[in-house]
Amino acid sequence: MQNTISGFSKLTKIEKVNWILKIYFNNDETSRNLITQYWNTDEKLQKLHDEFIENTITNFYLPLGVAPNFLINDKLYTIPMAIEESSVVAAASKAAKFWFKRGGFRAEVISTTKIGQVHFTYPGDKTDLKNYFESVKSKLISDSSAITKNMERRGGGILDIELRDKTEALENYYQLHATFETLDAMGANFINSCLEQFAQTFKDEAIANNIKGIDIIMSILSNYVPECLVKAEVRCHIKDLKDKDIPNPKAFAEKFKQAVAVAEVEPHRAVTHNKGIMNGIDAVVLATGNDFRAVEAGVHAYASKNGIYSSLTHCTIENDEFCFWLEIPLALGTVGGLTSLHPLVKFALQMLSKPSAKDLMKIVAVAGLAQNFAALKSLTTTGIQQGHMKMHLMNILNQFEANATEKAELIEHFKTNTVTHSAVVEAIEKLRS
Ligand code: HMG
Repeated sequence: MQNTISGFSKLTKIEKVNWILKIYFNNDETSRNLITQYWNTDEKLQKLHDEFIENTITNFYLPLGVAPNFLINDKLYTIPMAIEESSVVAAASKAAKFWFKRGGFRAEVISTTKIGQVHFTYPGDKTDLKNYFESVKSKLISDSSAITKNMERRGGGILDIELRDKTEALENYYQLHATFETLDAMGANFINSCLEQFAQTFKDEAIANNIKGIDIIMSILSNYVPECLVKAEVRCHIKDLKDKDIPNPKAFAEKFKQAVAVAEVEPHRAVTHNKGIMNGIDAVVLATGNDFRAVEAGVHAYASKNGIYSSLTHCTIENDEFCFWLEIPLALGTVGGLTSLHPLVKFALQMLSKPSAKDLMKIVAVAGLAQNFAALKSLTTTGIQQGHMKMHLMNILNQFEANATEKAELIEHFKTNTVTHSAVVEAIEKLRS
C-alpha cells in the first residue's frame, strides 16, 4: 500500500507531523501552521496532553461551557459542559432556571454495583465445574488481596463472584460474573486487574485439581451497569408550569406527557429523544474527565432492557401533579484516570465542589433530564428550530467569515426574523452588497 509506514509510533511528534504533511498535504505550510497553531505555548502542559494518547500531533479543542442555576437536592450548582453543539448549554441553562423557580431537581443514587466477567469455555461435566468453582471461590478472592487491599481499606472491593452457565446461548460457554464496589473511582483498572487475577487462579487451580478443559477466553469489566443506577426528577403542580412559553400549563403538561409516551413505545423517536438526553450527559461526563463511550454504551443497553429500545425519561400527571424523571446507569469516577491529570477536569470538579462519584452521578443525571425537558418543551411548543437556529446563527456567520460589525447587525436583524441557513446567507449577501 502506498501510504503505509512501519515504525510511525517511534517517530518524534515533529517527524509525525512532517510525514502527515508530506503524504496528505503536499508539504503545505498553511496546514503546518494549522497543526502548530493549536500547540500550547506552555510546553509542560502540551506534553501532558501529548501523553494522554498515542501518536498525538496536536490538540483538538472542544468548547467548555457552563450552565448556571442548577438546584439539585437544595444545593446550587453551575454545571460544566464540554460540547460542540450549539443550543445545548443554553437549553440546559434555561431548564435549570425554569426548575430553580419550582423547587429544583431531586436526585438519588439507587445502587453503585459494578460488574466484570471472566469468559471461558468448558466442555466437561457441569456438576464437576460447579463443585470446582465452589471450592476455589474463596481463593479467587484471597489471591486478589494485593490488588484489593487499598480499595477494601476505603470500604470497597469485591462484592461477589458467581459462576454463570451460558451454554444455552453458546456451546460450552460460562462466566465468572463478579460484582464490585469501587467507591469514587470509575474502577476500570481495578476491576480488570481483579478479573485477570481470577482467571489466573481459576486456571492454575483447575490444573492442580485435575479439572481439564477450562479455556479462558477473556477477562474484562462490563460497561453495562444496570445496578449502578441513579434517578433524577422534577415535579410540581400543573398550574405552576405556567411561564412565558407556557400560557396553558394543563395543555402543555398533557402534550409533554404524550411526547414522552411516544418515545416510550416508538424506537425511532426514542433514539432521538435519548440523543437529546445524552447531549447533557456526555457534555458533563466529558468535562469531568469520564469515559463518555462507556456511559453511552451502558445507557443505550439500559434503554433496551425490556427488549425494545425505549425512552430513558418518563412522565406522569397524577392529582394535577406533573412529574418527569430519568433513571440511568452511570459508572463514573471523581478520582483516578483523567480526573487528577487534566487541568480543566480538575477545574470542572472544583466548580462542582469536588463531588463524590455518587454526587457526580446525580449531577450528570440531572443534566440529562434538564436537556430532555428543554428539548421536549421546545418540540411541543415552538418547534425545535426556532431556538436551535437562534443559537446556531453564530456558526453560520462564522462560516461566512462575518466581521464584528456584520455580526452585530445580523444578530439584531435575527432577533425579529426567523433564522434559517438560507435566510442568513441572504441577509449577509444583502449587507455586503
Ligand atoms: P429562549 O427562550 O429564546 O431564551 O430559548 P431567552 O433568550 O429567553 O433566555 C432564557 C434563558 O435561556 C436564559 O436565561 C439562559 O438560561 C438560556 P438568562 O441567562 O437570560 O437569565 N439561554 C442562554 N444561555 C446561554 N447562552 C445563550 C442563551 N440563550 C438563552 N445564548 C433556547 C432559547 C435555545 C434556550 C430554547 O429555545 C431551548 O431550550 N431550545 C431547545 C434547544 C435544544 O434542545 N437543543 C439541543 C440540540 S437539538 C438536539 O440535538 C436534540 C433533539 O433532537 C432531541 C429531541 O428530539 O428530543 C431536539
